[in-house]
Amino acid sequence: MKVEIVTRRNGQEAVIEFDYALRHETEKPMALDVLLQAQATAMPELAFRYGCRARNCGVCTIDINGKPRVACRAIARDGDRFSPMATLPALSDLVVRRDGIARQMRGRLATAGQGNDLNVDAPDDYHALTACIECYACLDKCPMHARNFDGGLPGDMAEGTAPDPAEGYRWGNPFSLLKLQRIRLDPLTSEAGKQAALDHAIDLGLDACVGCKGCKCGVGIDLMGKVVRDMVSAAGDRLESAAGD
Ligand code: SF4
Ligand code: SF4
Ligand code: FES
Repeated sequence: MKVEIVTRRNGQEAVIEFDYALRHETEKPMALDVLLQAQATAMPELAFRYGCRARNCGVCTIDINGKPRVACRAIARDGDRFSPMATLPALSDLVVRRDGIARQMRGRLATAGQGNDLNVDAPDDYHALTACIECYACLDKCPMHARNFDGGLPGDMAEGTAPDPAEGYRWGNPFSLLKLQRIRLDPLTSEAGKQAALDHAIDLGLDACVGCKGCKCGVGIDLMGKVVRDMVSAAGDRLESAAGD
């Protein structure tokens, strides 16, 4: 089974064909299996991330044929093209910088007051949101996240103009809204904390969600139903003034 692997080193992109040797006739390898075999055989320097190999940690996400997929749970097919997630800056081969998202949320979570994942009094929606594995697949085609890159993707920006992930991205994304929504739904959060969480969502660009086609979660969380619509509705008229700022 042949796949194409897009490698990136020192700003140079290359596409390398790799022929995966099936371990048995009926094997349906995951994309991560293919990457592991490529690294163990023809491409010893191939860089990619993985952790749990069981769709728990979220770090193995790559683009497969241009769509973000959790590599340890995505069945590889003949002719697939594996590339780094287009929505985050590529570091080396399939590894991207994830810290711009995590740093964006630092401070915001603290001021709103973070709840407790074992919170038994929380509504079902709260528990549904704890299924997030932080894979960042939902950043795909998010116009709010694209604002960080002048409406495009990291790779579209002229050299030296892209925002520094170490600073945390200015504009949000479905994942950051999910984190804030969890705070809003947590019965342990004070009213002031819930308000602060909504304020942060508006500051991160919640107005971009108005009229947006919506976002899709890599593990099936109903982002529009359980996060975005509720926040947009709670923000109401405030979004118009945020969009006009
Ligand atoms: S609905 Fe909002 S968070 Fe989801 S993709 Fe659109 S702008 Fe991004
Ligand atoms: S909301 Fe879904 S797609 Fe987004 S980071 Fe969490 S698990 Fe991944
Ligand atoms: S390796 Fe952890 S989710 Fe894929």
